[in-house]
Amino acid sequence: MTNDAAKPVVEVKNLTCGYGEEVVLKEVSFAVPAREVLFVIGGSGCGKSTLLRCLIGLLKPAHGDIAYFGRSFTAADTEQRREILSGFGVLYQNNALWSSMTLAENIALPLEEHTALSRAERAEIVALKLTEVGLAGSEDRYPAELSGGMQKRAALARALALDPALVFLDEPSEGLDPIISREMDELILQVRENFGTTMVIVSHQISSIFHLADRVLMLDHETKGIIADGKPAELAATSTDPRVRDFLNPGNDLPKRPAGPTAGGGKRVTP
Ligand SMILES: Nc1ncnc2c1ncn2[C@@H]1O[C@H](COP(=O)(O)OP(=O)(O)OP(=O)(O)O)[C@@H](O)[C@H]1O
Ligand SMILES: [Mg+2]
Repeated sequence: MTNDAAKPVVEVKNLTCGYGEEVVLKEVSFAVPAREVLFVIGGSGCGKSTLLRCLIGLLKPAHGDIAYFGRSFTAADTEQRREILSGFGVLYQNNALWSSMTLAENIALPLEEHTALSRAERAEIVALKLTEVGLAGSEDRYPAELSGGMQKRAALARALALDPALVFLDEPSEGLDPIISREMDELILQVRENFGTTMVIVSHQISSIFHLADRVLMLDHETKGIIADGKPAELAATSTDPRVRDFLNPGNDLPKRPAGPTAGGGKRVTP
């Protein structure tokens, strides 16, 4: 085991980023240890996607540092950056599958870009990855021929093509019905169990947060930073911040239906 094993998989220090003059996140710091499933949550516009864009190198931070396995990503030169980028997979919110390519071609892309494997070796890995996500034998299908859930699985297969120790998943169950969304959750858990993959997941899906997250980071638009960091069940039960409690207990905002003729009527129950 190398020293790197003890280092956090991701370490963000005093990260400030935004667009032009607009600061979205200010002096944000956190670390993700190996094997953790970390959810980044928060209201619309709080900066979740912006954080993800910085983490995967699509947006340059105004200042601060992002390191992977102890190696600075922000200070890396082009070659080091390329190497770091090959160490993680990304499932984009819109899947980002190429519509003119088959699933096999889509999944082989990162292998072509980052490895010297032969065509036959790539085909073997594609078949394996499709099997891992429950799409065995779908090599020749095009994304448009797949349901929404299958497209997410295919995008996950591509994110896992290089056997990364870390994956970023942006809204992996967005647009899926509750049953398919649950299946996606199970698949994500299976990947973590089988490969020990560290995961950073942006999601609004409360059921997934409670089912999958070891830890959540909640971002806030006003504060431009982290307003909660902990286990979802503990935060939901004990946070004194109403923004955190309301987000993690969304049912509390709904008027309760009377249970019977003697019930008190649609009275709001506040924990
Ligand atoms: N490309 C961009 N150019 C300028 N401003 C942007 C850009 N993308 C996002 N913003 C602004 O940055 C802020 C954070 O946006 P971001 O997309 O990171 O939020 P989010 O938490 O992902 O929201 P959602 O849950 O709606 O996806 C918002 O005020 C948004 O208007
Ligand atoms: Mg977003």
